[in-house]
Amino acid sequence: QKGSYKHFMLKEICEQPEVLEQCMRGRVKASEGQLLLGGLAMHMDRLAAATRIIIVACGTSWHAALLGEYLIEHLARIPVEVEYGSEFRYRNPILFKEDVLIAVSQSGETADTLAALQLAKQHKCLCIGVCNQVGSSIARETDGGVYLHAGPEIGVASTKAFTAQIFTLSMIALKIAHRRGEIDDDSLKSKLQAMTELPGLLKRVIDQKETVLQMAKVYRYASNFLYLGRGFNFPVALEGALKLKEISYIHAEGYPAAEMKHGPIALIDQFMPVVVIAPKSDPNYHKLQSNIEEVLARGGAVIAITEDDNHDLDNCDYVIRVPTTDEFLMPVLAVAPLQLMAYYIADMRGCNVDQPRNLAKSVTVE
Ligand code: M6R
Repeated sequence: QKGSYKHFMLKEICEQPEVLEQCMRGRVKASEGQLLLGGLAMHMDRLAAATRIIIVACGTSWHAALLGEYLIEHLARIPVEVEYGSEFRYRNPILFKEDVLIAVSQSGETADTLAALQLAKQHKCLCIGVCNQVGSSIARETDGGVYLHAGPEIGVASTKAFTAQIFTLSMIALKIAHRRGEIDDDSLKSKLQAMTELPGLLKRVIDQKETVLQMAKVYRYASNFLYLGRGFNFPVALEGALKLKEISYIHAEGYPAAEMKHGPIALIDQFMPVVVIAPKSDPNYHKLQSNIEEVLARGGAVIAITEDDNHDLDNCDYVIRVPTTDEFLMPVLAVAPLQLMAYYIADMRGCNVDQPRNLAKSVTVE
């Protein structure tokens, strides 16, 4: 039920702090420095010894998978490839029995992701599921996995499932990293501590709904949007753009910020709002600052997402502030304002937010 919320999507955005709590329950024990992922326990040796991990997914789940690549490579130092289920299954991919395949899917029923998983099974790869829907086809066909525990997602546009996916992939990355000795006990403990603080921080972001609503009023008539981010926040830029286009029907593109110079900069004028995820925790923050200056110099409007105490970007048209957290967790905080902005713009444009035209919640046919 929607309760007092106008749409399921808004409810699902707002309940994300509780979703993080559910996702961590019984798994993250920060004071003891323990991370328990029961569904992976019997596969940890093989996971930690993997020479390659392939993550397959579609849509929003593919964006989560991309962040999964960045997280696993950064923390656990295992090479990762991210694949669209539809491309993977039809391009005669090279698979070795030592490979590990992770299928990421909210519904657990997406036809292309399921078919990619079945292909990997034929090659005797270890197959792991990251699903929300308990007992779904992907959950049943994998050797093990980690459920999101995000609760039913009714809005066709995925929000809380994305957040739970990136959070779950963070847990998986940390678990493998610790098992491989890439991070020590103290480092694991401090990262788990940062995770336990995240629901409270995310609530503070969502409590700024009114600020996002005011901003959405200004940009609701735009025809195009650009979203830029680097590193861990590049997948967030892609996801922000997808949210806007699927529910408001505004054309939006996500780009790695440094790619702007290689083409999209030609599009920038006073009619092109550019959302830049620019936390100071980003190791390339100064390069993001330069990108912002380049947009402003061409008359583009910049909406910046950065930390509470950062006033370097006050010359932007709007600054959405998020609390400081460990760099690898910033995507969880940065995506919420983008979800809210897409929601408010779509609602103000009179769109059917929970059931956007032409879209199905789960794509079970090709
Ligand atoms: O159920 P899945 O996560 O496998 O679904 C994948 C995509 O179809 C899904 O994420 C889609 O892109 C949503 N409309 C995103 O909001």
